[in-house]
Amino acid sequence: MLVLGIESSGDETALALVRDGALEAHVLASQADIHALFGGVVPELASREHLRYMGALFDELMRRQNLSPQDIDCIAVSRGPGLLGSLLVGTAFAKGLALGTGARLVGVNHLMAHLLACGIGQDLAFPAIGLLVSGGHTSLYFFRDEVSAEPLGRTIDDAAGEAFDKSGKLLGLSYPGGRLLDELARRGTADPALFPRPYLDSPSLDFSFSGLKTAAALAVRERLAGVSWPRPLERAEDAPQELCDLCASFNLAVAETLLAKTRRAFERRPGAEALLLAGGVAANSLVRSTFRRFMEERRGRLLVPAPELCTDNAAIVAYAGWIYASRGLGHGLAFETVPRGRPVPDDMAGPGRAGPC
Ligand code: KG4
Ligand code: ZN
Repeated sequence: MLVLGIESSGDETALALVRDGALEAHVLASQADIHALFGGVVPELASREHLRYMGALFDELMRRQNLSPQDIDCIAVSRGPGLLGSLLVGTAFAKGLALGTGARLVGVNHLMAHLLACGIGQDLAFPAIGLLVSGGHTSLYFFRDEVSAEPLGRTIDDAAGEAFDKSGKLLGLSYPGGRLLDELARRGTADPALFPRPYLDSPSLDFSFSGLKTAAALAVRERLAGVSWPRPLERAEDAPQELCDLCASFNLAVAETLLAKTRRAFERRPGAEALLLAGGVAANSLVRSTFRRFMEERRGRLLVPAPELCTDNAAIVAYAGWIYASRGLGHGLAFETVPRGRPVPDDMAGPGRAGPC
């Protein structure tokens, strides 16, 4: 089965092909440079850029793979959560293509696409705890199997990626700051007492990362007064040691906070054997090594996508689409596009389901 994946929930326009569960090709046009001028994603601009790139990227993918649209068996598209205008570009394109070719259509929950991507190139294992750490979300789930995820907790304010990006801005890093902050942290020495481990006193499995921004602003004043560096900082080579040390402390605070809540999730779901770790922040080197050690201690499996498949791309959407389509699941043309902040309905039609949406 050949599945086309379409991603346009944020600032990346991307298309990918997955054949029988294996990634065959992917193309991506990033808008990061455009939004960097404004220090964050400008929704109206993002929608226009998706419109500009979507058709051209599709033609390029078909040409490069020597395929015609009729060869596609299933079209999987990110239906949300995300920026509504951006999502509509992808879902409208997917619906038109499905109507024209007769291919099966699957509206994919972008968050599930991130987590299921742990299965690209390796076998998924269940029952599992899922930890999604992206630019817009930080959530814990219990997965009985690949199509049933029970939410256990989520952020009550900023997501982990947002904490990286907003604090990165305070530290004078170019946008989005997460990746560079991670790179600087690897050159620094952490002070474990510099940043709080937020919201651990709450017994819930929810997170709160907004306080880290304030802590970062204070730390800049306390530790970096009189230290200068080029702003916005683009290259790790130009960073002073004091800045690298501060980044190392920040990285440690985020990794330890994520670990503490995930440990609790395993205590509450003792049957879970594996951890699915996904989303942009799962590309973070300390987050990866922290959870690798944790799962080794538990003698469980850590499943995490390759770093380049952690941030937004269409391979994860195509792969999730392949999982659903293999089970006979899919959508009619009427499925809804879901903006950030609203839950994505579990409304696929297929065997064991109530009927077409
Ligand atoms: O999953 P993603 O591409 O977008 C959403 O769906 O939200 O995640 C993007 C986020 C950004 O906040 C970015 O700064 C962060 O992931 N990120 C990182 C790293 N690479 C990307 N954060 C920390 N360390 C990294 N290495
Ligand atoms: Zn994402």
